[in-house]
Amino acid sequence: MTPSQIKLVQDSFAKVAPISDQAAIIFYDRLFEVAPQVREMFPNDLTEQRKKLMTTLAVVVNGLSNLETVLPPASALAKRHVNYGARPEHYPVVGAALLWTLEKGLGDAWTPEVAAAWIAAYGTLSEYMIAEAYGSAQAAE
Ligand code: HEM
Repeated sequence: MTPSQIKLVQDSFAKVAPISDQAAIIFYDRLFEVAPQVREMFPNDLTEQRKKLMTTLAVVVNGLSNLETVLPPASALAKRHVNYGARPEHYPVVGAALLWTLEKGLGDAWTPEVAAAWIAAYGTLSEYMIAEAYGSAQAAE
């Protein structure tokens, strides 16, 4: 990711932060619409889950310019996900639901440049998480 892409991701995420509860609802609704088979992996009540997701995203986004602070916790998160039943092939599905949510949340501020920056950010993070949790041979590319 280039420094200007990092800034695009951070600035656009700051615009979603005030509606983060709403964004998290949109995200899980979308995820379970496109991938109903993953619904049973999650608890029935998603209240806590929504908060954790948005908090973690904020930490990752804020840490993009300081990757050495983000990678160790991201590795641990990825390994916990193995026990949740997450598989490498789920990561692109989650990424697509995230991008869709940002597009809805940002409206006109969702420009091609912002989209490309988020694709780069999620691609980098998910590749790293998959490699840490399943070994690099599994990385979806
Ligand atoms: C970059 C991508 C992802 C991020 C940032 C993320 C974030 C989180 C966070 C913060 C939690 C709370 C628990 C914890 O910290 O261990 C969590 C739980 C969970 N995530 Fe993810 N996740 C990601 C990808 C995925 C994928 C690809 C799946 C596959 C469907 C998934 C399924 C789950 C499930 C099932 C739980 C546990 C629910 C529970 O039993 O409480 N996540 N995720």
